[in-house]
Amino acid sequence: MRDKLEELRQMRAKAKLGGGEKRVAEQHAKGKLTARERIDQLLDSGTFQELGRLATHNISDFDMAEKKYPGDGVVTGFGKIDGRRVAVYAQDFTVLGGSFSEVQSHKVCKIMELAQESGIPVIGLLDSGGARIQEGVRSLAAYGELFVRNVMASGVVPQISVQMGPCAGGAVYSPALTDFIIMVRKTGFMFITGPDVIKSVTGEDVDFDTLGGTVAHNVHSGVAHFASDDEGAAFRLVKEILSYLPQNNSEDPPRVTPYDDPGRRDELLDRLIPEDSSEVYDMRQVISSVFDRGSFLEVQAHFAKNALVGLARLDGYPVGVVANQPMYIAGVLDIDSADKISRFVRFCDAFNLPVITLVDCPGYLPGIEQEHGGVIRHGAKIIYAYCEATVPKISVVVRKAMGGAYIAMSSKQMRTDLAYAWPSAEIAVMGPEGAINVLYREELKKAENPSALRKQLLQGYIEKFHNPYSAADMGQIDEVIEPSFTRLRLINALEILRSKVASNPPKKHGLMPV
Ligand code: HXC
Repeated sequence: MRDKLEELRQMRAKAKLGGGEKRVAEQHAKGKLTARERIDQLLDSGTFQELGRLATHNISDFDMAEKKYPGDGVVTGFGKIDGRRVAVYAQDFTVLGGSFSEVQSHKVCKIMELAQESGIPVIGLLDSGGARIQEGVRSLAAYGELFVRNVMASGVVPQISVQMGPCAGGAVYSPALTDFIIMVRKTGFMFITGPDVIKSVTGEDVDFDTLGGTVAHNVHSGVAHFASDDEGAAFRLVKEILSYLPQNNSEDPPRVTPYDDPGRRDELLDRLIPEDSSEVYDMRQVISSVFDRGSFLEVQAHFAKNALVGLARLDGYPVGVVANQPMYIAGVLDIDSADKISRFVRFCDAFNLPVITLVDCPGYLPGIEQEHGGVIRHGAKIIYAYCEATVPKISVVVRKAMGGAYIAMSSKQMRTDLAYAWPSAEIAVMGPEGAINVLYREELKKAENPSALRKQLLQGYIEKFHNPYSAADMGQIDEVIEPSFTRLRLINALEILRSKVASNPPKKHGLMPV
């Protein structure tokens, strides 16, 4: 028995070395940690329970018999973050470029199945050249097995992916099926195929960063949700995200001990909205005044900046925040912001996070590019997501709520539970200029003094619609509130809605416009 124990210890020690000292040194030289070092940093000390440490492949083609590494390029298991259980897998780039194999798939799928059945979030640390070329269809099927687990776990347990190396092929498609993607600046990349393959297929010359770096996916494509400066920052971000989330869809999100006075009033809010409704202000100011101090964790902060989405807390309870941002293209809704908002609302609904919506939106963005890009299809996603969501929903019209944007942005008809408005609210089918041109075109043409008539008509329109009172008269707004009382009103509203039970008609699934 002593010999057998020694043999086991040696095998386990070999597994610790990944692809060998030289490759580990190369990994460190690139500013990257190894898979095991990453897991050590991410998890509470001493909590990691590894599974599949000694698993190896059985492929002999392409000299693979000489390239057997215990663990086969991925470290998998369970551990704890801030005392809560997580499933984690970390790909090891020092072993065949972290390429995904049949064995990797068995290991990752095993922990995903256990995690789904036990209601435990899954975190993937990705650093991989995609499907292992030497395994042919085996590695493609291996990815298929992973994708189906990603999809089955979707909406059941939170799934977070951290892109920590040059991730290609399936190493981006699997993350794309998860809830949040964090990219590490300078070392994390995402692409279907790398620059060399692109060069040979299309002849295009492109570097890693331009093709699939943090800017490419956080600013332009919207594929990623966060960018972090280094690996340590990425792990802190994972912990922060998890702190807002339940372990699974049958639990409520965890409340932290309240640290901010629920009755705190920021009187700046009473002066924030400019007199001239074409002037801008920063909606982030409203968010930071209303929600628990410092609790707003913005999601997709660099993509579609005309909308703001993120996680926050009210009196210690986690909530999802959706808002228009007048600082960027007047806060209009367009294709990208529609994708951003609808995805986030659905995420909140899946994990029992109430959705608070702060509205200041002049409408959907007009234009040929938007129309031909499918703004109708994308814009409809917002409506779909709000209507479908059964979590508590509360809206506050801060200023403009015009036309389709009024309806889509959590109006009463979107099954919103409580709708508030500030006295600065402007609720109408369209802005005054547009409305007067449509309604009085002929009169303005014939008028002796068209500019005086225009001024008078505009004034009448503004008096009628640049306030929340006709909407409140009709019950479309439940209460007009003083801005500085918003925090207290929202906390009290959430208290009312905490035991809300709502459902949708039975169906296999709806057909959200995609
Ligand atoms: C097997 C791989 C591999 C792969 C990398 N390696 N990718 N081995 N299968 N997919 C190996 C390399 O041969 C090399 O081994 C080692 O990993 C390190 O790779 P380098 O190329 O030296 O590293 P780097 O220069 O940093 O470039 C990393 C890379 C590049 C950008 C990931 O290796 C690359 O372009 N790989 C192919 C990417 C790709 O096209 N994958 C798509 C697979 S298709 P040695 O021993 O020489 O050091 C796929 C289908 C999924 O995933 C289905 C989706 C729906």
